Amino acid sequence: MLDIAKSERNKRISEGGVFKSYLTTEYGVEIETESFQYKISFYNEHTIRVHQTSHSQDCNPYSVVQSPKKINFQVEDNENSLVITSESLDVVIDKSPILFTFLNKDGKILNQDEPGLGIQTQGEQKTIYKKLQLNERFVGLGEKTGPLDRSGKGYQNWNTDHFAYDIEADPLYASIPFYIGIHNGLSYGVFVDNSYKSHFNFGASNNRFSSFSVDSGDMDYYFFNGSVSEIIQSYTWLTGRMSLPPMWSIGYQQCRYSYYPDTEVLDVAKKFRDKDIPADVIVLDIHYMDEYKIFSWDKERFPNPDQMVDLLKEMGFEVVVICDPGIKTEGKYLPYDSGKKEDVFLKYPDGKYYEGEVWPGWCHFPDFTKEETRSWWKDMMKSYTDIGIKGFWNDMNEIATWGQMLPENIEFDFEGEGATTRKGRNIYGMQMARSAYEGASQNLDGKRPFILTRAGFAGVQRYSALWTGDNVANDEHMLLGVRMVNSLGLSGVPFSGYDVGGFAGNGQSNLFARWIQIGAFSPFFRGHSMINSHDSEPWSYGEEVEEISKNYIRLRYKLLPYIYHAFVQASESGTPVTRSLCIDYTPDDKIYAADFENQYLFGDNILVAPLASDQRYGKVYLPEGEWYEFFTDEQLAGGQEMIREYALEHLPLFIKASSIIPVYGDATQNSKNVGECLELHFYAGTDHSSTEYYEDDGVSYESSNGIFHRRLIEFAPSQKEIKIKEASGNYNSKIKKLKLVLHGFDQNELNNWKHGSIERKCYSYVQPISNFDPFEKDHRDNLKSENVFSTEIAYTNEEMVFNW
Ligand code: GLC
Repeated sequence: MLDIAKSERNKRISEGGVFKSYLTTEYGVEIETESFQYKISFYNEHTIRVHQTSHSQDCNPYSVVQSPKKINFQVEDNENSLVITSESLDVVIDKSPILFTFLNKDGKILNQDEPGLGIQTQGEQKTIYKKLQLNERFVGLGEKTGPLDRSGKGYQNWNTDHFAYDIEADPLYASIPFYIGIHNGLSYGVFVDNSYKSHFNFGASNNRFSSFSVDSGDMDYYFFNGSVSEIIQSYTWLTGRMSLPPMWSIGYQQCRYSYYPDTEVLDVAKKFRDKDIPADVIVLDIHYMDEYKIFSWDKERFPNPDQMVDLLKEMGFEVVVICDPGIKTEGKYLPYDSGKKEDVFLKYPDGKYYEGEVWPGWCHFPDFTKEETRSWWKDMMKSYTDIGIKGFWNDMNEIATWGQMLPENIEFDFEGEGATTRKGRNIYGMQMARSAYEGASQNLDGKRPFILTRAGFAGVQRYSALWTGDNVANDEHMLLGVRMVNSLGLSGVPFSGYDVGGFAGNGQSNLFARWIQIGAFSPFFRGHSMINSHDSEPWSYGEEVEEISKNYIRLRYKLLPYIYHAFVQASESGTPVTRSLCIDYTPDDKIYAADFENQYLFGDNILVAPLASDQRYGKVYLPEGEWYEFFTDEQLAGGQEMIREYALEHLPLFIKASSIIPVYGDATQNSKNVGECLELHFYAGTDHSSTEYYEDDGVSYESSNGIFHRRLIEFAPSQKEIKIKEASGNYNSKIKKLKLVLHGFDQNELNNWKHGSIERKCYSYVQPISNFDPFEKDHRDNLKSENVFSTEIAYTNEEMVFNW
């Protein structure tokens, strides 16, 4: 009896297999064990793939866009282990049973399989157990609820529609099986490249291991080493980066479930202009369609959609339409008839089309994992692109159906390889977004489309922005949204956001005021609310909140050059637009604390400390360095916690000393007409710093042909020098006037300013709020700096140098 139990246990222990032989390949090694083959290949110096496979490979063809690369490495065959050494990473592979240990060049263990467990299989499911390191933290994993540091938590990946989800709910709409582990001053990343349902345990209910499992398919993962930011760079290099979105899509977008008829849509747009609140987009939710049928218009509510789009264009608005994948099974409806003819819909194994119920009633669902379907979808999209629509909001693509139980035996084409729901479900939303992106890009004649999706998988950033679905109008959700967007940023998706104001339920006015302030500092900035809920436009919560909303939406537009540059960084290096503090301040324990985990850097230099609507006192932690209060220029030492009273109109924002912040100086209605004045704000400090000013037409791909205007700006405080390097690129900048605005500078030093007059001024990024309530008077904060120095000159393409 005992012996049987022992041999069973031994069998389980050795499931990684016992080493039989190995082969050195161009890119790494291949190991044969009794039961598996391990292919270990370098993709670059910092990225190595561990692919455990049997004879029939079962991989994910959708996420990785790179192939293995030849790098220098050596293999040493020892009695008990195989050691692979490369310039930045070493891997020790124990032979009996197979266990992996990843080490950095100092010989420090980054990550290792848990001895005794290693890899285990249970039926089709495979799990890798990793030894929990001392005080190990886990961040990332995409759109997940919960804290920044996910240690002690467990999650699964299975794209799921979850209306008004709970703040701990899991899984949600999108799955990104990529996380970053942090311990002992070290960091590493793991991307599990498998689209079946997967499970991650970061030391939940155990103190021995972290683990990841896949329900079927190959255990195929990539291991990254480097700093947190290098790991994000490597991961986005591997799975692709977002190309620059149209500038208008990063302005304010106004949505509602739903604006109709067309006159209401136009009224909302006009109200933005009458009230002088900038905005770029009006979003049409499902009521624009005839009985919710995609690619159709409700003839009574929207008799002339092309005219409406034109009128909105005249007012400077772009239109985004919702697109649901379900095609109503109804004859004489073109998408249904032609979809059947072209055979684009998902089927059961017996060849019958799958039919599920959603908004329009019973529907078939296009199989976006098939090339022909994507091309058919592109043709269908012409009914939108032909009338000038460039924005596509892909919803319900988990796939969501009433009952939420997509049968597991549905068959997906999977680029001809074939798969069932078990492998296809997590991929579907991303491929719908891809169809929209590729279709719209082709139809729009060289204009950039804006694509938004609810569901997604690793690599979705190549096609689309993502929003966090049906949140609830309360403080917990507002702050959770911030963490989810930061987590998406850590996981390769830089363009994401949440429904500002809250989708479900009715929030109070203070909540909306706080949410719109925070939303102005999120990559995707859209107000949205559900049918039969409180209106959620900037003017819907009374005059005070309207003034606050206007201030922060305007601030968003002022900051466009700074934000656009952050998008350029995301498209070139994968660095997210909103940066959890774990990127730049990884070893600082404080930033993971519940009080401070919602704080983040927006772009390189602006620290945002989100505040709940009922919080009069904000508790903020400033990490190491020197900081400025954004509005008042008060100088603050880093490495300290602060508790301060904050008026409702005052979002705690801070700027790093030595920062350069480019902003537009003229007020604007939308992102297309930002005026001719560029202000460059310099914050005195001790470090040297640099940034770039980047401009292009904001709508086309011409920047890839050199039609951009780009220049380096350097700030060397110790040399008392500002240098604006010569502009490169062939785009004619619209800027005519340059204003230098110097914060925290010493007047005596500036007496040596040699470049025309420099004046001491008062500066404010926002307008003062009226005193609607006399009792609030004492609680108004003075959001201005009395003490900046400013000078104005003509803007030219040549190098400009300023000394003092
Ligand atoms: C889904 C979306 C929501 C949208 C609604 C109606 O719930 O998540 O944003 O308003 O469908 O289309």
